[in-house]
Formats: sequence, C-alpha cells, structure tokens
Amino acid sequence: MSVSTISFSVEKTKNSTISQVDFDNLAFGKILSDHMFIMEYENGEWGEGKIVPFAPIPMHPALSALHYGQSIFEGLKAYRTESNEINIFRPQMNAKRFAESAERMCMPPVPEAIFLEAIRKLVEVDQDWVPSNEGYSLYIRPFLFATDEGVCIKPSDTYKFMIITAPVGVYYSEPVRVKIEEYYTRAAVGGVGRAKAAGNYGASLYPAKQCQLQGFHQLIWTDAAEHKYIEESGTMNIVFQIGGKLISPSEDADTILRGVTKKTVFDIARSWGVEIEERKITVEEIITAARNGTLEDAFGAGTAAVVTIIKGFSYQDVYYELPPVEHSFAMDLKNKLTAIQHKLAEDTFGWTLKV
Ligand code: COI
Repeated sequence: MSVSTISFSVEKTKNSTISQVDFDNLAFGKILSDHMFIMEYENGEWGEGKIVPFAPIPMHPALSALHYGQSIFEGLKAYRTESNEINIFRPQMNAKRFAESAERMCMPPVPEAIFLEAIRKLVEVDQDWVPSNEGYSLYIRPFLFATDEGVCIKPSDTYKFMIITAPVGVYYSEPVRVKIEEYYTRAAVGGVGRAKAAGNYGASLYPAKQCQLQGFHQLIWTDAAEHKYIEESGTMNIVFQIGGKLISPSEDADTILRGVTKKTVFDIARSWGVEIEERKITVEEIITAARNGTLEDAFGAGTAAVVTIIKGFSYQDVYYELPPVEHSFAMDLKNKLTAIQHKLAEDTFGWTLKV
C-alpha cells in the first residue's frame, strides 16, 4: 500500500490545552498533545484510522490486554529545525520493530505504510506541540493492545492501535551511576526481551526501584542464566569504549532490544572510521578494563534518553568511577546525533522524514 493512497479522518479539538504548557520546562512524558490516532482490528482486518481529540478511552473490565498482557509499544521523536521544519527521525526502523514485537506477542502487525502515515499525519495536526529548545522534541508513542472482552486465555481476536504524543525535555539531566545486577533479570533466552512488550517494562520496575534505593539511577542487566554477560542498561542499550573501539552486546541474542539510537550512533561512529564490535561482553572484561584504565567511556543509548553518559558503576559492592575525560567520545556522538536531528548538520544518511 503506498502512502499516497492512505488517508485518515481528522476531528480537531475545540479545547486545546497548548496555552497551559510551559515549553521551557518539560518533564519527560507528563504532558500529552491535543490529538491521538486510533485504528481498530477485528474480523481479521484493520478498520479505518482516525485522528481525534485526546481523551480517555472506554475500557471493559475484562479487557484482555489488562489480564494477559498482549500489549506492545514504540518510541520515536519529531524535531523542530531552526528553519521551522518538522522532521521525524528514522520512523521506518520503529515500524519494523513494531511489526517484529507484534509477531512475537501473537498480535496482528500494523502495515508499515499505515504506521508511517499515521505518525506523520498526527504530528502534522499537532505540529505546534513540537518544542524548539535544544534537546527538546515531540516524543511519539505508538502502541497496540488486545481488546477482547473475557478472561479466557488465548490470543485476542480484536486490537486497538493508537498513537499519542508528548512534548519532552531531557530524560536524564546528568550522567548516571548504575549497578550491575546479579540476581534479577530483564529477559531470558527464548523469552520476549527483543520485543518492546509492555510487560518487560513492568517487570523491570521492582529491580530498578531496589537499585534506586541504594543510590543508583539504573541497573545494568546481565544474562538470566549466569549473570556473567552484560545485556542492557535500564531502558537503554549499553555501549562501552575500550581502547578506542565501541563495544556493545550483540543484538543477535533474543534478549536484547534492537535499538534505533544505538544503531544510529554506530552508523555515525563508523562514518568517522571508529571500529565497532557487537558481541558477548563479560562483566569481568568491563571490571578489568575499569581497573587497568582502558575503559574510556560507557553510555546508554535509547530514544527517550538519547545518549546518556555512565559516570560509574557498581559490582559486588565495589564502585568503579570512570576517569573524568576532557573529551568524551560519547558526547561527540550525542552532539552529532542531535545536530542531525535538528538539521544543524547535514543528514547525509537520509534519516529524517519531513512532515
Ligand atoms: C524509549 O526510549 O522510547 C523507551 O522505551 C523508554 C521509555 C520506557 C520511556
């Protein structure tokens, strides 16, 4: 299906809340824009998509997503440029990942052309909500959930695909301290770690809260079988710089989310001639590198958090602080990425979709 043949009805709000928003002070994800997209799936096919005023949705108490967790989501961003253009960053990658998550969770995939046009149109309708401050953006949250009514356990026959958006500021305002987790796990081989399934995030809250009570911002997840290999950091992919190389756990493992931001910073780094290794990384290797001073940088990469510097980590109650550097490579990557997103640097990669 080509994008030119797709159109959605649009009902505009009569009660915009935009004048109440302080666009210079945006916490992450608390404020939602005026409109939302909805499309329903029943009898084996997708119905008409529509854009309507943002409002609560009616919900049956036996809604199957609430009971059995067939619920997935995506996260991507739109940016305002200096010349007042609005660009959405790499939405095709989110479309692909959304379809992969749907397949793993036994849900009907949303056709890519519909996914992309629904996002583009919704951002166009709410374009005044795209902030202009540096580092700010419109966070776009597509989600799909099961809507069968009843408590029998089976893949739902009906679903809702929705998109909401939120003007956002920075996610972490400072470099983070993390703890390498040795008991709890985010995902096991054969599980749903690669899918952006709502339950993965719900299950991460308790371990994250425990480490926050100990004074850390987040966890570094390790493998479920042995807690020997590094997997992800909080809701972000994790990257280390050792001896000039960028090293990250391989996404071939079905326990790791295929990160759009991580792929993007690797594409930038490769274009600068930096060597990249995606492979298994042992905790021991990172401790050794921290001890002998070859661990130059560690950072998390994710849509919400962009590139977040890890300033230190703890393992078995020993805290390893990364040496302060005059010039952080992770900051170079972050600066280049945000410059491309805001069109302050040329997008030679063809990553941005103009609204
Ligand atoms: C994202 O970076 O889009 C995420 O998934 C983080 C989100 C849970 C806030």
